[in-house]
Amino acid sequence: MTAAGHNLLRGKVGIITGALDEKSIAWHVAEKAHAEGAQILLTNAPVALRLGAPKALSEKLQAPLVPADLTQLSDIEKLYEAAVAHFGRPIDFLLHSVGMSLNIRKGRSYPEIDYDFYLKTLDVSAISFHKLLQIGRQKGAFARGGSIVALSYIAAQRVFPKYGDMADAKALLESITRSFGYWLGKELGVRVNIVSQSPTPTTAGSGIAGFEAMYNYAQKMSPLGNAPADACADFIVMLFSDYTRYVTMQTLYHDGGFSMMGISEEILS
Ligand SMILES: NC(=O)c1ccc[n+]([C@@H]2O[C@H](COP(=O)([O-])OP(=O)(O)OC[C@H]3O[C@@H](n4cnc5c(N)ncnc54)[C@H](O)[C@@H]3O)[C@@H](O)[C@H]2O)c1
Repeated sequence: MTAAGHNLLRGKVGIITGALDEKSIAWHVAEKAHAEGAQILLTNAPVALRLGAPKALSEKLQAPLVPADLTQLSDIEKLYEAAVAHFGRPIDFLLHSVGMSLNIRKGRSYPEIDYDFYLKTLDVSAISFHKLLQIGRQKGAFARGGSIVALSYIAAQRVFPKYGDMADAKALLESITRSFGYWLGKELGVRVNIVSQSPTPTTAGSGIAGFEAMYNYAQKMSPLGNAPADACADFIVMLFSDYTRYVTMQTLYHDGGFSMMGISEEILS
């Protein structure tokens, strides 16, 4: 059962990063936000836009598609300029849905990471969020009372060896959520939260060695089962809506109960 459109985001405008293909969590968020009455602008790294899928989504949702490498300050500046010009006003919501580790891609385990790759992991997967928030604030691109959401994984708190240096990136990302959430809350009444999502079969997710085993383990451990991407999108749309006006600086677990479990009967049997 999925939620139908209720105009939860009617009149709101926002930016969605990271919709690569129809498996992407951001893709589901874009479709749901649109169905809930929002106008959106899509962005992804120039290299990702060479694939056809983001363009198809942009056409389907009548949402401009702006290339931006989110590690590059000048790209982020242009992104906000394009958004404010397109909407004619500051944005009400922003989704950070970006992650990449060259150490994982090249099969380097946590004790053997390459430090140039490590810096890249932290930059793409965590510091890009700080950059988006810093430049958005400087440019006056965030509307009062808006909502900003990023995505995390429970490896920020617990050890999942194959998640490698992405665990450190997620811990940093959760800290940026809290620390920047203070400033944007005080100054603009803007909420900043991060959703810690179940393993999800996307391009980024499936790139983790042993993803299937992690997925199956979490499925057996979680009383509700793993949360799919479209349910994650429902939750994020609610966080963008006015129904969560006083929720901020939180790591919110959208994981079917996994994070509260010690062991389950399915694992024991
Ligand atoms: N899939 C999972 O199991 C899972 C679980 C928890 C959290 N997450 C998080 O969800 C978010 C979205 O990932 P996904 O699973 O939908 O995978 P995905 O591969 O569909 O999305 C990742 C996106 O990051 C973009 N990206 C990479 N480098 C970039 C850069 N320099 N600038 C701009 N964009 C860049 C990619 O083009 C892609 O669109 C990530 O933060 C990921 O860590 C995923």
